[in-house]
Amino acid sequence: MEGCSSQARISKRLFARHGAKIIIADVQDDLGWAVCKDIGTDENVTYVHCDVAVDHDVKNAVDTAMSKYGKLDIMYNNAGIPGKLDFTIQGLDYEDLKKVFDVNVYGAFLGAKHAASVMIPAKKGVILFTASLSTVLAGTSPHSYAASKYAVVGLTKNLCVELGQHGIRVNCISPGALPTPLLSNAFGMEKSAFEGLLCEAANLKGVVPTAEDVAEAAVFLGSDESKYLSGINLVVDGGYSTTNQHFSMLLHSQMS
Ligand SMILES: NC(=O)c1ccc[n+]([C@@H]2O[C@H](COP(=O)([O-])OP(=O)(O)OC[C@H]3O[C@@H](n4cnc5c(N)ncnc54)[C@H](O)[C@@H]3O)[C@@H](O)[C@H]2O)c1
Repeated sequence: MEGCSSQARISKRLFARHGAKIIIADVQDDLGWAVCKDIGTDENVTYVHCDVAVDHDVKNAVDTAMSKYGKLDIMYNNAGIPGKLDFTIQGLDYEDLKKVFDVNVYGAFLGAKHAASVMIPAKKGVILFTASLSTVLAGTSPHSYAASKYAVVGLTKNLCVELGQHGIRVNCISPGALPTPLLSNAFGMEKSAFEGLLCEAANLKGVVPTAEDVAEAAVFLGSDESKYLSGINLVVDGGYSTTNQHFSMLLHSQMS
């Protein structure tokens, strides 16, 4: 079960290709229904309006999965917002902070709570969250967004302990920057220009990062191929966060 973000759209296609039956839960109703038509039939995919920060919306999404398919195997809590792109603490805006935490953190808690309520009796299930590169590389996003995604990683790890007792795996995926509307719109750039920038800054050359890369990670973590993985934060960034080449680049430019 997941939303209709760029990453979610791609991952749903992949999940559908792997035979999954899907509930799309998002606030963009037209887009949600369009994605349904695009990837399947009434039998294997449906849409429910769901504000992830509203308890009864999330409960309704889980109830829909149970009444339509009789079980919930994978809950993919992927909805997220960046908030205001002000990287300074002086720019603190309580309303913005609250909105970011409502969607990114409270939404993740609600998704986990309602998924767990049906997975615990079944003694199995997979709960996935989307965090961010900003949980392993500081200074790459506004404080409110970074703090919200750290909270998601904290929830992943704490929940993996509680729900491991019930046979439920809990993991999160931290994508590096991707050319989805979330970021290209936030920076007011055309997708192709944004892609060019990402490729130039990338650690791993010769690959354009896409939402498919995150979708593949989600399908893996949702599948039995990862049956002994729980409590991990899988970073999908082509190694970007493992290195800081600033000093060696400065050194090389001085030496040449
Ligand atoms: N794009 C990136 O570079 C990047 C990098 C790291 C992490 N992420 C994370 O990946 C996830 C997906 O983002 P994306 O890049 O596909 O962006 P996107 O803007 O395409 O998708 C965000 C989705 O969340 C939905 N959403 C927003 N508020 C909601 C709410 N209250 N209830 C239900 N749905 C809501 C939107 O309708 C949209 O479908 C987010 O959690 C984001 O923080 C993105």
